[in-house]
Amino acid sequence: MRTTVSVIKADVGSIAGHHKPHPKMMELASGKLAEAENTGLIKSGYATHCGDDIILVMSHGKGEDNPEIHGLAWNIFREITEKVAKPMKLYGAGQDLLSDAFSGNVRGLGPGVAEIEFEERKSDPVIVFAADKTEPGAWNIPLYRIFASPENTAGLVIDPTLHDGFKFEVLDLVESWSVLLKTPEELYDLVALLGTVGRYAVSKVYRASDGEPAAAASTTRLSLIAGRYVGKDDPVMIVRAQAGFPAVGEVLAAFATPFIVSGWMRGSHRGPLMPVSFRRGQNVVSFFDGPPRVMAMGWQVSNGRLVGQDGVEPVDLFEDPFWDTVRNKAAELALTLRTMGEFEPARLGHEEMEYTTLPQVIERLKPRFKPIETKK
Ligand code: F6R
Ligand code: MG
Ligand code: MG
Repeated sequence: MRTTVSVIKADVGSIAGHHKPHPKMMELASGKLAEAENTGLIKSGYATHCGDDIILVMSHGKGEDNPEIHGLAWNIFREITEKVAKPMKLYGAGQDLLSDAFSGNVRGLGPGVAEIEFEERKSDPVIVFAADKTEPGAWNIPLYRIFASPENTAGLVIDPTLHDGFKFEVLDLVESWSVLLKTPEELYDLVALLGTVGRYAVSKVYRASDGEPAAAASTTRLSLIAGRYVGKDDPVMIVRAQAGFPAVGEVLAAFATPFIVSGWMRGSHRGPLMPVSFRRGQNVVSFFDGPPRVMAMGWQVSNGRLVGQDGVEPVDLFEDPFWDTVRNKAAELALTLRTMGEFEPARLGHEEMEYTTLPQVIERLKPRFKPIETKK
């Protein structure tokens, strides 16, 4: 049977600045997903949050880009905004709903989307990653490591079902074009693009031998839609694992050596991506509105439904004490970067700061700029 996993997310307001959604927002989201499950629109639904972003995870049989599924998510975000976030004057109420012009698809309207449709295997583990205070390019390093690096994924070397490699659909978020690159043959071209994390991002990964979808990621850049700074895009990603895909442990290994991403305070800084445990309540930011963080939810997909450890409740893949060491390393890196204050590279480069409030500050100084006199 064909099953689709859709992950649609948006920041529609939070308590104490950009900290976390109000429990009433989460209640409303869970209630609406349960209703949709009862009417048969979806097979399972799970609402959670990563920092100030509400994440809706839905499994169904309607395929990708389905207007009813997108409509369900859009209406949930609208209702949460109008019924809870605005009346309570929560911070940034309705922030990511940039347009009212919903006509069947949330892409381009603000919310982030990752969707993957596949023929269910005998047993199908999926991992949904959600990050806060960063952007889609934050997935470039882990996707490269998971699906293209033999240093990370032993199966690429050892397992004949992975040995033919993967195909990456890479998007140019500035010029709006995409290219399909096959690894290992085009590995250097892939890295050439993915290294520019603010511009290139991966939307899909397919197994090269048979085109089977392996991963999907959100690629929204709010600032490019709105033409101004409206918060970072706090991406989500779905990865299928095991039996012909990288093992769950190989997928998670990609996060074991913390790497630096863009986002953090005012979407204007570089900081380490810290893998966090949501069961331990670590999926909320604090220090300097960060550091940027990622959580990992694990399910089995079974007859169209998401099977977790307690109904649809997912397993928490970064809960293991092993990740405390990684978190400590990330915290050390975060503190080191903050010793630099507002100097690059701790602050983003000039091009990316164009979408922040910094140009307004520079503009005010403009009248005082004088030409430099050159002595002949
Ligand atoms: C980052 C983010 C926060 C805010 C910061 C200032 O994505 O959302 O770091 O940029 O808290 O917020 P305002 O300008 O709303 O006071
Ligand atoms: Mg926010
Ligand atoms: Mg956020």
